[in-house]
Amino acid sequence: MSFTRRVMVATLATAGLALSSFGALAADKKITLGFAQVGAESEWRTANTKSIKETMEKEGINLKFSDAQQKQENQIKAIRSYIAQKVDVIAFAPVVQTGWDPVLKEAKAAKIPVILTDRNIETSDPSLYVTMIGSDFTEEGRKAGRWLLENYKGDGDVRIVELQGTVGSAPAIERKKGFDEVIKAQPRFKVVRSQTGDFTRAKGKEVMEAFLKAENNKINVLYAHNDDMAIGAIQAIEEAGLKPGKDIIVIGVDAVKGAFEAMAAGKMNVTVECNPLLGPQLAQAARDVLAGKQLPKWTPTKESMYTADQAAKELPNRKY
Ligand code: AHR
Repeated sequence: MSFTRRVMVATLATAGLALSSFGALAADKKITLGFAQVGAESEWRTANTKSIKETMEKEGINLKFSDAQQKQENQIKAIRSYIAQKVDVIAFAPVVQTGWDPVLKEAKAAKIPVILTDRNIETSDPSLYVTMIGSDFTEEGRKAGRWLLENYKGDGDVRIVELQGTVGSAPAIERKKGFDEVIKAQPRFKVVRSQTGDFTRAKGKEVMEAFLKAENNKINVLYAHNDDMAIGAIQAIEEAGLKPGKDIIVIGVDAVKGAFEAMAAGKMNVTVECNPLLGPQLAQAARDVLAGKQLPKWTPTKESMYTADQAAKELPNRKY
């Protein structure tokens, strides 16, 4: 630390202020955090919102919350309104990866630090956000692929259909990439159809119905980028007179309670965990950045995966 900065820190500390490159905040001042959420599209998202709201309440952080209904323009509007309200920190879960630079430049000009949660962005200037707290989606895709190669029992070609998440979102892009990377090692595993189901149950069901029709029910595996779409698709599979989990192997991502119930009922085979309980890490990051602490550019969440044989035992322990 330079001499000038050392003197400033000492002076501010005496005055009860913390120094960061975003300005000074009185140590006893209540933090105001503006959070722009993606929407309420899945069980995962509901748990994520609950974790953020409950944590901020418990931590005495004044939370301004908005739901963008899965539209980037709504998130941009919310961020602009947080800038106008001069909040201390802005956090958001970017619905898609690109197109954030202009609004983030406005936040930077207003000296408001930005924290990304859940999903990452593509930017020409990484200084536009302080830190990203969330999962390694590519690794989640790889886990799904590895499980399939190691556990698939039949011979011959394996016809896979894929329900992708929201077009342009980090989890959709990276879960696809990780899965493809792994399955290409065994060319008999082929993705015969791949389409977005927008991370919702309703769309998951609708697209799976179309897949079943188009493929004349000749599908061996469903890989869904989240459990909600898998659960919607399970209904479509049953309505087509097939047994999900048996006639068609069902792989999901998130590890929400709904997936454990489906696995316990023998209708789903595996779910890769994606932890939505990011509230405590977000509160800590907000405090740290305002105290002038250096934060890692990415804090990946620790995650596991669960198979049908673990479901009944694990279900009562699930927090989301
Ligand atoms: O970004 C995380 C993803 O978003 C979850 O897997 C999905 O369920 C949610 O909507």
